[in-house]
Amino acid sequence: MGIQKQIAVLPGDGIGPEVTNQAVRVLDTVAKKYHHQFSFQFALMGADAIDKTGDPLPESTLQLCKTSDAVLFGAVGHPKYDQDPDAKVRPEQGLLKLRKELGLFANIRPVTTYTSLHHLSPIKSNLLEHVDFEIFRELTGGIYFGKKELSTDGKSATDTCTYHVDEIARVAHLAFKRAQQRKRKLTLVDKANVLETSRLWRKTVNDISTSYPEVEVHQMFVDNAAMQLIINPAQFDVILTENMFGDILSDEASVLAGSLGLLPSASIGSGTALFEPIHGSYPQAAGRDIANPTGAILSAALMLDHFGLHQEASELRSGIEWTISNSFVTMDIDPINFYFTSTIGELVCDFIMNRVEDAIHKANIQLRKSTII
Ligand code: IPM
Ligand code: MG
Repeated sequence: MGIQKQIAVLPGDGIGPEVTNQAVRVLDTVAKKYHHQFSFQFALMGADAIDKTGDPLPESTLQLCKTSDAVLFGAVGHPKYDQDPDAKVRPEQGLLKLRKELGLFANIRPVTTYTSLHHLSPIKSNLLEHVDFEIFRELTGGIYFGKKELSTDGKSATDTCTYHVDEIARVAHLAFKRAQQRKRKLTLVDKANVLETSRLWRKTVNDISTSYPEVEVHQMFVDNAAMQLIINPAQFDVILTENMFGDILSDEASVLAGSLGLLPSASIGSGTALFEPIHGSYPQAAGRDIANPTGAILSAALMLDHFGLHQEASELRSGIEWTISNSFVTMDIDPINFYFTSTIGELVCDFIMNRVEDAIHKANIQLRKSTII
């Protein structure tokens, strides 16, 4: 007997709708195969929501997310806001508010590399062997959510970084638990030589570590971590860090995989969990069916894991690995011989339905005909 889940889908801006559609399609296929019932409710978010309602996170969207079993999210952002520092309403505010309202205090970003894509990374292949780590980024505190101020003369500005010990502890426990299931190594990244908040992170994490004696704890300053991620990325297992350091380091870490489009994320906490690719809205590619849906599809796999559907999740991951190892990749990976966003989604569905063994006809796929002979 399958399970029943209601999923709120917020495609957002730019390439968000295209990649999210592929994730929905793959989830639909999983539901069909395993007799689950997934219902998808779409809602507005980001610049698209501002255009239509004046609000980057309309109340109806928030309510839908709160009453759903999970949120599948695409991307937010539009150049017209990036170029206007005076804009009062911004698409990103919708995402930040949603994270806060849903209590999503932990953002988990797994970083893996694919041997067949090592050449895409500016990092030497030998350094990429055995790279497999997860970043646990605190998501609802720190400088992102502290008091912001611009002086009346417009000449000075302030952003405050505040952390309460409880905010640190709850994400730290999740990271330690994850490290227990993995290689039992946790690296706390901070700037404790300068920042008071970082010293509180160190103290809190040290206290908590006594409850996880089998986990080896390392402390690393963020500037060094930025370097270590490039010179020896295989040393990491679980990285635990605050909001802004996690934002920056996870974009840096995506370079290891070869493309920002490959990486998924899960945000969890006290309310409905949210799943999103780590890439942005990539407006230049919007509507062209060229964006990489892998991050979005792998985010759907994290959602399946969250539902306890581990076999389904691993099948979906195998589908992605299968596309990559057969060179069914989008333009960011191969600018000459590339396949379309929708084709990758279709192929992953074919894989799940066991339709790919000998049936794939590459020439037809390139022509965007059926993937099956
Ligand atoms: C991310 C993004 C967001 C963040 C932006 C869009 C507000 O960069 O999810 O990493 O900074 O958290
Ligand atoms: Mg970011």
